[in-house]
Amino acid sequence: MAIEKTLILIKPDGISRKLSGLTIDRLDHAGFEMIGAKVVSVSDELAHKHYIELKDEPFFEPLMKFIQGGFHNNYKNKVLALVYQGENAIEEIRKTVGATNPEEADPTTIRGSFGRVATKGHYENVVHASGNAKDAARELALWFKPEELLD
Ligand code: TYD
Repeated sequence: MAIEKTLILIKPDGISRKLSGLTIDRLDHAGFEMIGAKVVSVSDELAHKHYIELKDEPFFEPLMKFIQGGFHNNYKNKVLALVYQGENAIEEIRKTVGATNPEEADPTTIRGSFGRVATKGHYENVVHASGNAKDAARELALWFKPEELLD
């Protein structure tokens, strides 16, 4: 199996609900190695580029607001961006993170344990994890410079 790198974002709901440490703990104990980390203020441009494939979805507008901290602005506009590396990391970390809809996610996953469907309808699911190899490569290039990764 291939050694892969994958992008994790602890989203504004995770930051505001103090779930960063717990998320990192679960990823570390799932057997993966952290090779990059930084707190990022998400610009409109970065938000749009990151979620470009979803631009025609009905939830795109609230998603842009959410990822830029618009629903958690007591904590400003902040996400924690992480890169993890390991064998089959993309698929395995998606299993640790859980399904997109937190109501449907297995309760032992991060999203199943801590996510919620907000009253406005969008999902506040605590973490992002790259979905496949193509997205991982695109997202890593968007969020990190090569020299920021200690692999
Ligand atoms: P998506 O890329 O489909 O899922 P994932 O994050 O699991 O790769 O969607 C991106 C984010 O958009 C998702 O994490 C939460 C939000 N979202 C909604 O708010 N409502 C929805 O119906 C969907 C499908 C996603």
